[in-house]
Amino acid sequence: MIVSFVNVKGGVGKTTTTVNLAAAFANSDLKVLVVDLDPQASSSHSLGVAKKDLKPSVASVLTEGRSIDDVVVDTGIPGLDLVTGATDLAAADVLMARKKDAATILSKALAPVRRRYDFILLDSPPGLSLLTVNALAASSGYVLPVVPHDLAVEAVERFFEGLDDMQVLFPRKPAVLLGILLTMVDHRTKQTDQLVRKVRRVYSGKVFRTTIPINIRLAEAPRHGMTIFEFDRWSTGAQAYSKLGAEMINKLTR
Ligand SMILES: Nc1ncnc2c1ncn2[C@@H]1O[C@H](COP(=O)(O)OP(=O)(O)O)[C@@H](O)[C@H]1O
Ligand SMILES: [Mg+2]
Repeated sequence: MIVSFVNVKGGVGKTTTTVNLAAAFANSDLKVLVVDLDPQASSSHSLGVAKKDLKPSVASVLTEGRSIDDVVVDTGIPGLDLVTGATDLAAADVLMARKKDAATILSKALAPVRRRYDFILLDSPPGLSLLTVNALAASSGYVLPVVPHDLAVEAVERFFEGLDDMQVLFPRKPAVLLGILLTMVDHRTKQTDQLVRKVRRVYSGKVFRTTIPINIRLAEAPRHGMTIFEFDRWSTGAQAYSKLGAEMINKLTR
């Protein structure tokens, strides 16, 4: 199954979730491919790839028609492969626009490898760029990470409106919302529980039961090029991502 992690906003935990959920799946003996669609290449760095090793990135697949097999790298974590992102993705976004069927380039490129993996997780950049559109067009489902702040519900509404406006770009059945994921949940602040309840009320049934707490270890791990399970498997962050993995598998196999 191909799943994308999207939100117009940056800094909501898309990358942290993609990388650590991928690691949680790999821990459960599933075969996983992460595709880094962000020019910032945060998920590639989090999986231990040095800046000099980012290219060839997925950009060469999207713009030069290079085969995905050519750019898959082994992360060193059993069962977890990666297609890196790099700065050339910024140009790719513009270059793809000139191509025919610009929204489905990634979908077609992934076709030869999709059977090889239980999950292909697509980490997308902020905004609703052509890269995100490609991610959504390639996916059967998507996860929307949301930080429970004052304007969280408004931001989710804006995202859904933006997505609606773009439906014409999606040729097939659009990706379904697998769930809203509450991330960086900070129970020390008074308002948090109230905001979490509000999001659950407004989007009842559409919010993952598991929430990701704010956990400094989750923020530190990427600097060491490690997933949370390698960096601190006993942290609350690691526990939360294990739980999320189990919840997702449960949901999808029901
Ligand atoms: N649960 C968390 N607790 C603490 N820090 C987090 C958590 N999730 C993400 N972060 C940190 O917040 C920042 C933004 O997260 P990131 O996953 O990169 O968001 P996005 O991909 O949506 O831009 C990063 O520095 C990341 O390490
Ligand atoms: Mg990111």
